Parts: sequence; structure tokens; C-alpha cells
Amino acid sequence: MLASPVVAGFARELVSGVLWEWGLPFLVPDAVLVMGELAANAIEASGRQDVIKVHVELGVGEVVLAVWDGCAAQPVAQDVELSLETLDLREENFDANGGWGLSIVEGLAERYWVDHTRPVGKWVCAAMKTSGRA
Ligand SMILES: Nc1ncnc2c1ncn2[C@@H]1O[C@H](COP(=O)(O)OP(=O)(O)O)[C@@H](O)[C@H]1O
Ligand SMILES: [Mg+2]
Repeated sequence: MLASPVVAGFARELVSGVLWEWGLPFLVPDAVLVMGELAANAIEASGRQDVIKVHVELGVGEVVLAVWDGCAAQPVAQDVELSLETLDLREENFDANGGWGLSIVEGLAERYWVDHTRPVGKWVCAAMKTSGRA
């Protein structure tokens, strides 16, 4: 996909569609949230002429969501516990602080990791359990 902000919604729709096809509709809300965050980060890190790639895979007991971008910079999650008290890190940016995407991904995913590709780029990946969810 072209690395444009408009494709984040398309990436979410793709995830939703395949999860319904695979008989996993209960995973859709969390999975589209995770995909939206991964896609938004990849788009933000890319130039407007670049591409991102979206991958959804059904593994044993898990669904893997992954987004590739060609940017050398690394994802860095905030080192703050996600709570209502810490949600607005700065008073003057009420409800517009940003910086929580990867914390949400780490919170919802069973596993989260980055696979580097050659000569450039990386897949940012999150695995979500398909069973045993509370
Ligand atoms: N795919 C990526 N490529 C490069 N840097 C990334 C990527 N994803 C995240 N980052 C870095 O990690 C930071 C934290 O990401 P995130 O938690 O989603 O917060 P936000 O996107 O609101 O800044 C980003 O600000 C960015 O610097
Ligand atoms: Mg983000």
C-alpha cells in the first residue's frame, strides 16, 4: 500500500475481513485497533512516495498482525504505565498527547516484536491469542 494516512483504514478493513473469514469475529475489535496503530506508525515513519506492507497470518492458537516499512528508525514504546492518571502526560495537550500506540499494542497482544529486513526496513509484529481470552 502507498504510505498515505488514508490507507490505515484500509489496513483495518483487511484485518476485519480475514478474521471474519477465518471464523474469528471476536478478535476483530482488538485486532483492528492493533493494526491501526501499527499502520499509523509505519505511515508516519515513511515518506509519501514509499510503500508499507500489511501481513495477517493464522498460526497455531494465534493470529499474527504485521506491518512493514522501509524506515531505519525503531519503534520506541513509552516507558510509562498506561492508566487514566497517566493518559494526559501534559496538561496543555489535554487528550492530544499521542505516544500511546505501542503501549496499546503491547497491552492487547500476546507477543510483540520487530523483524528487520535487508537491505532496509522492518516488520513490526504483534501476535494475538485466538482462544482463552477473558
Ligand atoms: N514503524 C516505526 N518506524 C519508526 N519509528 C517508529 C515506528 N513505530 C513507532 N515508532 C517510534 O516510536 C514512537 C512511539 O510510537 P507510538 O507508541 O505509536 O506513539 P506515537 O505514534 O503517538 O508517537 C513514535 O513516536 C516513533 O518515534
Ligand atoms: Mg503511533
